[in-house]
Amino acid sequence: MTRTLFIKTWGCQMNVYDSARMADVLAPLGFRPVDRPESADMIILNTCHIREKASDKVFSELGRLRAHQRERAAAGGRMILAVAGCVAQAEGAEIAARAPYVDLVFGPQTYHRLPELVARVGQGGTVVDTEFPLESKFDALPEEAGAPGVSAFLSVQEGCDKFCTFCVVPYTRGAESSRPAAAVLAEARRLIAQGAVEITLLGQNVNAWHGEGTDGGVWGLGRLLGALAELPGVARLRYTTSHPSDMTDELIAAHASVPQLMPFLHLPVQSGSDRVLAAMNRRHRADDYRRLVDRLRHARPDLALSSDFIVGFPGESELDFAETLRLVEDIGFAQAYSFKFSARPGTPAAEHAPDRQVPETVKAARLEALQRLLGAQQLAFNRRSVGTRMPVLFDRAGRRPGQLLGRSPWLQAVHAAAPERLLGQLIEVRVDAGQANSLAATIVTAGGDAGTAMALEGAA
Ligand code: SAH
Ligand code: SF4
Ligand code: F3S
Repeated sequence: MTRTLFIKTWGCQMNVYDSARMADVLAPLGFRPVDRPESADMIILNTCHIREKASDKVFSELGRLRAHQRERAAAGGRMILAVAGCVAQAEGAEIAARAPYVDLVFGPQTYHRLPELVARVGQGGTVVDTEFPLESKFDALPEEAGAPGVSAFLSVQEGCDKFCTFCVVPYTRGAESSRPAAAVLAEARRLIAQGAVEITLLGQNVNAWHGEGTDGGVWGLGRLLGALAELPGVARLRYTTSHPSDMTDELIAAHASVPQLMPFLHLPVQSGSDRVLAAMNRRHRADDYRRLVDRLRHARPDLALSSDFIVGFPGESELDFAETLRLVEDIGFAQAYSFKFSARPGTPAAEHAPDRQVPETVKAARLEALQRLLGAQQLAFNRRSVGTRMPVLFDRAGRRPGQLLGRSPWLQAVHAAAPERLLGQLIEVRVDAGQANSLAATIVTAGGDAGTAMALEGAA
C-alpha cells in the first residue's frame, strides 16, 4: 500500500540528514515523500530546541496541522502526526500532555525504530520513545534510498560531551559517539555511486570524531578525511561543526595535505571575552582561538573562516562585548551566525539570577553592532574575489531562467548564466561582482566557445 509522507525540518544540518534517513526507514512501509502536508498520510515535524524561538514554532505548527488531521478523520481517514528531533527529546511528555492528538513522539536516537512505533499508533494515546538506546541507530538504518544530490551530507559523529553552559545539545542528542571508518567509507561510496561529488561530514562536534579505522587502529578526523579523499569521484570534502579545543595537529595538517578538503571552516568561537568564555565553559580562551586560526592559515593560506557568536550571555559587560568585536576585527570572518543569548530550560546558564541577565534592548543593540561588523567583513570577502577565477560546483537552478546556482570553494553562493547540463559539475568561472550574500560570475569557456565549459578538479 502506498502512503504519503511529509517531513518538515528545522534546525541544523544533522536534522536535515536525519529527515532523509527517516524517509529511508519508512520507505519499506510504503511511505513516499510528498511536498505538501495537507494530503499526507503521515507528517513528521523534525524539530530544533536550540533557542526559544525555534522551540515555539512546533506548537503553532501543530495547531495548524490539527485542523487537517480533523478533516481527514471526518472523511473516515487517518493522518499520523509525529514530532521528532530535539524538542521531542527535551519535551516529549509535555507534547503528549499539551497536544494529545499527536500520535508519535520520538528523539534523534530512536528513529530507526519507526516501523515498530508506527505499528503502535492508534492503540490509544501518544506513542513516546525518547530513549537513548544502547544500540546505535546507524547499525539499524537501511541503506539510503533517496538520491543524495550533487552535494551530500554524511553524519559521522553524534552528540556532545562539552556541556557549554548555554546549550541543550548534550541533553537532546546525548553523549558523543563516532561511527566506525568502514561504515563512513561505505556510505560515502554509495553517495558517490548515486552522483554525489561533494561530501560534507556532519557531527555536533564533528572534529571530536575518533573511530575504529579500517586498519583496526583508532583514527581521528584528519585520517578519515585522508581516506575519503582516496575514494574515486570525491571532488570536494567539508566537515561541520567543529569545536576549537578538538582541532588536532593531524586535522590541521589535513588542511595542507588533502587537496579535496575545501578551504573553508566553520569554527564557532561564541565570544571574544575570556571571562564570558569561562562562564560558558568553552574550554578555550580568545587567544587560543587566535593562535589556532594562525596555525590553520599557516597550513592552508587561503582558508576562510566562519563562526557562531552569542551576545548577551548572563553577566556580559560592555567591555566583554568590546572584546568580541576586537576578536572579529583580528580574525576577519568570511561569514558568521550570531544570536542573542536565549535561556534554555535545564541548562546552567538559564539558572543565573535575573540581575545577571542582560536586558533585551542591550542584547539587541549588541547583536546589531556585531552583525554590522560581520556583514561588512562578509561583503569585503566577497568583493575581494571579483576578477578572480574559481571552480564552482553547480547544484541547482538559479533564480532566473537560464541561470544556475552553485558554491565556490569558500561556500559562497555563485550564480551564472549556464546551461542545465552543467548541473553537478565543477566549472571554472570568473567572478564579476560580489554582493553581501552571493557572487555573480561568468563561465570561463575554452577557446571562447560558449558550448564548452571547462571541467576542473578532475577527480569528478
Ligand atoms: N556544536 C556546535 C553548534 C551547536 S548549536 C558548536 O559547538 O559550536 C549552533 C549555535 O547556536 C551555537 O554555536 C551557538 O552560537 C548557538 N546557541 C546554542 N545555544 C544557544 C542559546 N542558548 N542561546 C543563543 N544561541 C545559542
Ligand atoms: Fe553545544 Fe557546546 Fe556541544 Fe557545541 S560544543 S553542541 S555549543 S555544548
Ligand atoms: Fe537544533 Fe538539535 Fe540541531 S537543538 S541545532 S536540531 S542538534
